[in-house]
Amino acid sequence: MTPDDVAILRCPESGRPLTFDGALDRRGHLARGRLRPQGGGEGWAVLAGLPRLYREAWIQGPDRFMRRWFYDAVPRAHDPAVRLLLPLFQGPRETEDHLREQYLTRMALDDLPTDRPVRILEVSVGTGANLPRLRARLPKGVQAQIWGLDLSAGMVGRLQASGRAGDARLLLGDAHRLPFATASFDRVLHVGGINAFADAGRALAEMARVARPGTPIVVCDEQLDPGRPHGLGHRLAFKAVTFYDRNPHSPVDRLPPGAQVLADEQPSRFFYSLTWQMPG
Ligand SMILES: C[S@@+](CC[C@H](N)C(=O)[O-])C[C@H]1O[C@@H](n2cnc3c(N)ncnc32)[C@H](O)[C@@H]1O
Repeated sequence: MTPDDVAILRCPESGRPLTFDGALDRRGHLARGRLRPQGGGEGWAVLAGLPRLYREAWIQGPDRFMRRWFYDAVPRAHDPAVRLLLPLFQGPRETEDHLREQYLTRMALDDLPTDRPVRILEVSVGTGANLPRLRARLPKGVQAQIWGLDLSAGMVGRLQASGRAGDARLLLGDAHRLPFATASFDRVLHVGGINAFADAGRALAEMARVARPGTPIVVCDEQLDPGRPHGLGHRLAFKAVTFYDRNPHSPVDRLPPGAQVLADEQPSRFFYSLTWQMPG
């Protein structure tokens, strides 16, 4: 992240703009220091090139549990588990690639403008599996800045080590209090975390706030396809991967007031994909 990028950051407590006070690395990126709210305040640490824009006290219940026992504990297991278990549990054609291609199509990247730079945000970017796919889909002429936020230092550490990050702007933060100015992003994506969020409605309202009006927002997570039969094996496997949620389903009922649903669909046996926008 460069000092120029700080312009769209906001203090997740006060909503005030932030200024960086610290050291840059050789590429001119934020290395270490503090992001301080204009007008004063405690501010937010930048450590090893990564801004940390959340307070530990906010992270409770399922968010804390999942981070401690899964995302920070075994980040290395995430990608192989997704790759192997999806076709094993859902059926041989319902692979990770198949699922990711389906929801990425909904981001309507071909409609992005080419006459100005655009910003794309992945909330809960994890180990960054969507990032190379997003870049590969960007049409020629689109100048896109990709941003990724996540709560787990373990997952983001894995992303940084993988080389997938490229020039993506990465930060640690909480999906319930996105540290960005209103209407900062031209596309917003979230995959795989929201079923375990403490308050999915609040996270959706935050995605709506930081997206420009009329921007497609794509959210994907687990839901057992209500439109087809499932054997006992499918049901048990689904229960095992969603043990933390009594009723995993598309959060179409928790969208902010005024949201327009563009598609609420089931790209594979275990996953919904919900595309929506706020009126333009
Ligand atoms: C199953 S992983 C999905 C990662 C990535 N989106 C993908 O498609 O591979 C879910 C991610 O949600 C993140 N997460 C969980 N709670 C969060 C929160 N409150 N705010 C931001 N990210 C969160 C986890 O740290 C984890 O990286």
